[in-house]
Amino acid sequence: MSIIVTGAAGFIGSNFVLNWLNNNNEKVVALDKLTYAGNLENLKSVETKPNYVFVQGDIGDSKLIAEIFQEHQPRAVVNFAAESHVDRSIHGPDDFMQTNIIGTYRLLDEARSFFNALNEDAKKQFRFLHVSTDEVYGTLSSTDPAFKETNQYEPNSPYSASKAASDHLVRAWHHTYGLPVLTTNCSNNYGPFHFPEKLIPLCILKALQGQDLPIYGDGQQIRDWLYVVDHCRGITTVLEKGVVGETYNIGGWNEKTNLEVVHALCDLLDELKPLDDARSYREQITFIKDRPGHDRRYAIDATKISNELGWKPEETFETGIRKTVQWYLDNQDWVTRVQSGEYQHWLNKNYS
Ligand code: NAD
Ligand code: TYD
Repeated sequence: MSIIVTGAAGFIGSNFVLNWLNNNNEKVVALDKLTYAGNLENLKSVETKPNYVFVQGDIGDSKLIAEIFQEHQPRAVVNFAAESHVDRSIHGPDDFMQTNIIGTYRLLDEARSFFNALNEDAKKQFRFLHVSTDEVYGTLSSTDPAFKETNQYEPNSPYSASKAASDHLVRAWHHTYGLPVLTTNCSNNYGPFHFPEKLIPLCILKALQGQDLPIYGDGQQIRDWLYVVDHCRGITTVLEKGVVGETYNIGGWNEKTNLEVVHALCDLLDELKPLDDARSYREQITFIKDRPGHDRRYAIDATKISNELGWKPEETFETGIRKTVQWYLDNQDWVTRVQSGEYQHWLNKNYS
């Protein structure tokens, strides 16, 4: 038996593959285009395992996807591949439309062809799990209840609109063609191998480099943070126990303002890597121009996955963020290597 994991060299995909291979012997076919966000170094610790195969390629390349299905005869596809950064989607939406919409469509359609040719037993087992985001539901006011699976889709950024489109395609391929799909909509993740364009790794890096910690607007926007390994466990739970055609929200019950998050990072760095002059890293916080169309609050109601499938997060924000800061302190070589020319170019474009 094997599973195909797309976007396997990215932040969540690589954590998923490492977690999977550490917990069972089933083969993983890791597919990734290796965009700026994909890093094979994330998967270095498993590259010699006999049940791990890496293929560089695009989910939108139908011919390649068909070949991978034929060669590996997977019992499941877990689709992480996407362009994932809101700010980049504002600067240049094209790649988001191409991968998140067209790419998902091509992957779905090749999965459909493969599924149709399976025998009845294999059909019963087969799953296409699509990993999506809470951002498809739009933004909440401070008094709104958290997002449920039944919330209306109201995406506001090019990124979330492209993910919403992909979710609709997944739904349609189930409804029309009977492809056995599952969709998960998760809140903001954090943890090891997080590319330093996103708030948490960006601020850890900038803090250590003595640079300003850029907070958009008033810093009172709220995100609901989940430790990445908990997300990976949630996806595995949905893959094994989820009801075909259903969607499951995954979240950590950890709503924090951006300023609270950055304060927590600074306080941990003050403890674990104190500055020589006893200054606090908090002094590096700087408020900058807000993101256009910035969603004010996201919050996930994770009651369904908890009640129906028995999943709960194991980490609190306090335990998860401590592990994360420690990981970045212990993996400065990884950090140095991901700060390539492309990354510097992005920093200049977004923060100049
Ligand atoms: P990421 O940007 O770190 O990784 C994405 C990976 O996909 C990269 O390795 C990249 O090389 C690969 N990729 C991009 N285009 C591809 C293509 N056309 N074909 C094959 N591979 C391609 O993203 P992430 O944070 O790991 O997110 C993974 C998934 O989880 C995304 O679908 C995202 O929408 C979703 N998600 C992310 C979060 C979060 O907080 N990061 C929260 C909820 C949902
Ligand atoms: P981000 O990590 O980009 O995730 P998302 O936009 O998908 O939620 O951003 C998290 C929050 O942090 C979001 O409200 C935007 C804010 N933010 C900043 O204030 N400064 C920054 O430099 C970045 C990258 C994000």
